Amino acid sequence: MTALRLARGATGRTKILKFSGCYHGHTDSMLVQAGSGVAGIAAASSAGVTADCAHDTLVAPYNDFEAVSQLVAKHGADLAAIVTEPIAANMGIVSPEPKFLLHLREAADACGALLIFDEVITGFRLTFGGYSNLCRVKPDLTCLGKIIGGGMPIGALGGRGEIMDQLAPDGPVYQAGTLSGNPISVACGIKTLEVLRELNPYESLETRATQLITGIEAIHRDAGVPICLPREGHMFSIFFCETPPRNFDDVMATDKEMFPPFFGKMLEAGIYLPPSPFETSFLSIAHDDAAIERILDAWEQSIV
Ligand SMILES: Cc1ncc(COP(=O)(O)O)c(C=O)c1O
Repeated sequence: MTALRLARGATGRTKILKFSGCYHGHTDSMLVQAGSGVAGIAAASSAGVTADCAHDTLVAPYNDFEAVSQLVAKHGADLAAIVTEPIAANMGIVSPEPKFLLHLREAADACGALLIFDEVITGFRLTFGGYSNLCRVKPDLTCLGKIIGGGMPIGALGGRGEIMDQLAPDGPVYQAGTLSGNPISVACGIKTLEVLRELNPYESLETRATQLITGIEAIHRDAGVPICLPREGHMFSIFFCETPPRNFDDVMATDKEMFPPFFGKMLEAGIYLPPSPFETSFLSIAHDDAAIERILDAWEQSIV
């Protein structure tokens, strides 16, 4: 919410381009879906969001280079920001295709809009920092949450100095709240980041994820049940389909009916998966070899 206001304040423009299937919190202008009428113009996806509010949001399919170019060509002069999850993780995992993030960087630069990476899920999960450190595309603003609160409620944004200077009290873009800088959340977050820096668990998490995913794929090969397990680091998702989805429409075309009974069987076998194929699964440092084996045993029983 603050990043969008800041982008609008810093550029003096109104419109934001987002991608269908990406989630950016429950702020009004992001609770939208691709509209049916005018290409790219959004419609509200929640009761209580006004048509005017949705109208300032443009929606493109994730990984659609051409749609981005066309929308920027048409609305570039009004575009305050392009916002995206650098790895889409709220429709299951949909990885950015090679150069897609670079395309967004170039499209934003071409029209003078800001590029915002929403790293609420990816931040500090794949490396000690943002995914932008790994993909080498530099956003103007980065949003963080979740991990940086160590389990406590928190949100943060950062970015280029001259943009951040536009925030109150230095600049004219207002931001404040009762819980802003909440000392307990911030203390927990600092401690979590200290522990993460010391443990540096990212490589071993990835190794465990490889172990798990390889095991699941073998089970599916033997059972003859198609599955796609798109993965980034230790984040992965479970799609019952032949080829990995590259956008939200592909996700919707996967066999979603297979998921609920599978979820139920896994639960009975003692494994609590995220309760929807649109949710991403994460490993934690508590998942040791024994846990991975337990998951694989349950999987084998549940998939037939
Ligand atoms: C990518 C992303 N952005 C933003 C949010 C919103 O975070 P919060 O619910 O803390 O406002 C979420 C929450 O799941 C998220 O996954």
